[in-house]
Amino acid sequence: MTAPPPPAPPSSATPRAPGRRLHMITWGCQMNVYDSGRMADVLAPLGYAPADRPDDADMIILNTCHIRDRAAEKVFSELGRLRLVKQARAEAGHPTILAVAGCVAQAEGAEILARAPYVDIVLGPQTYHRLPEMVARASRAAGAVIDTDFPAEQKFDHLPEQSAPQGLAAFLTIQEGCDKFCSFCVVPYTRGSEASRPAAAILAEARRLVAQGTREITLLGQNVNAWHGAGPDGAPRSLGWLMRALADLPGLLRLRYTTSHPRDMDDELIAAHAEIPAVMPFLHLPVQSGSDRILAAMNRRHSAADYRATIARLRAARPDIALTSDFIVGHPGETDADFAATLALIRDIGFASAFSFKYSPRPGTPAAGAPHQVPEPVKDARLQELQALLRDQQAAFNADCVGRTAPVLFTHTGRHPGQVVGRSPWLQPVHVIGPTSLIGQELMVKITTTHTNSLSGTLVPASNPAATQERTPA
Ligand code: SAH
Ligand code: SF4
Ligand code: F3S
Repeated sequence: MTAPPPPAPPSSATPRAPGRRLHMITWGCQMNVYDSGRMADVLAPLGYAPADRPDDADMIILNTCHIRDRAAEKVFSELGRLRLVKQARAEAGHPTILAVAGCVAQAEGAEILARAPYVDIVLGPQTYHRLPEMVARASRAAGAVIDTDFPAEQKFDHLPEQSAPQGLAAFLTIQEGCDKFCSFCVVPYTRGSEASRPAAAILAEARRLVAQGTREITLLGQNVNAWHGAGPDGAPRSLGWLMRALADLPGLLRLRYTTSHPRDMDDELIAAHAEIPAVMPFLHLPVQSGSDRILAAMNRRHSAADYRATIARLRAARPDIALTSDFIVGHPGETDADFAATLALIRDIGFASAFSFKYSPRPGTPAAGAPHQVPEPVKDARLQELQALLRDQQAAFNADCVGRTAPVLFTHTGRHPGQVVGRSPWLQPVHVIGPTSLIGQELMVKITTTHTNSLSGTLVPASNPAATQERTPA
């Protein structure tokens, strides 16, 4: 077996390292980011080391997202570009394997090969552990390989242990798939039904991450708070319990989780926010709409009042919790009154930030064929109004942080000389001027200024004796 060569610097002037090179392009949610890491891990034993540029790569994987129309269309324009790269490399005597992974691969399958016959491998999100076998088949030039099964075996049981260090803040997938079938959404079709990874496997992966230097873990799942498993005693457990077990790992400072569904916010999870210091006071809880009529049409199976009640319980448990959400405007049947109800819910709750989208009909989903589709210009106008309100709320939330002192976990250097950047508990990037030795530490910072998407501040010397010592003038 070939040992993986060390990763080479990005310059094209660098001599080509022996062995094979892999270039990955990742779109979509954080679960795709995590999956791309796993695909790199599974290919490393075959000798594939990372390549920063597609024209340096013997294999290119495009990990795709199908959530909205534009996301899917982007795939074919990118493939057009990669076809030229593949052609140029072939002319220079270097074959290239081109693979399409992710949710577009799952949804479109053979259609991808019909539109882009130069693609060698099409693989769905549940078959990444079979990549080595697919690469072998593609290398034998036996024709294109399609694998979009939902295999009975769980891919996580067959993937190698997460090997490449993930850095100070890492993702860890604990749950996949969705059984909720919201009217507008492709995820249940592209990712399959809900499945939770066993607690022991999650804890083992978290231990490895912490041993490699990770200090903050974000637990991932399409419905992460639907996670369920068994404790060591065999008793059924939910996410609140799992976070308690993870928080006990020495060296792990912070825990986050995303994305949650309002129906799965149980008491144990809310209590975790109150009782476990490592659980950050931050929650992304998509509501989509503030209108009960539209929530019912969306098959969300909760009302606006249920959502408000959940938020009230969370705020009672953790008064400084920052809330973010997802909104869709222009779902079929949405009237001006429905939209007004969404604005009212936003005003009542006050979000720290949010993602908002125009409804995009997805083939095969119930809403795509529903009557009373909302005209594009109406969607445009509603989106602008909603985003203006959300921008104001974000600015107000950030402004409110000025003057506060908060712990910041420093993770990297900033764009400006002497700048070091980390995250606040509320996920805002925070920069300070300080030595690079701050990286890896969680230190108290007094927030002094707000910018559009970040904050800046100064270290609080009294609360950070170690850091103060290190702040000797250069
Ligand atoms: N599991 C999460 C979100 C998954 S998709 C949840 O239950 O909320 C991420 C976001 O994309 C969704 O919250 C929704 O706001 C948006 N989205 C999904 N399908 C969409 C569509 N067809 N059109 C527009 N936005 C969509
Ligand atoms: Fe999609 Fe709804 Fe499932 Fe979220 S809960 S992934 S929006 S079907
Ligand atoms: Fe996109 Fe698939 Fe994630 S559709 S949002 S990549 S689950």
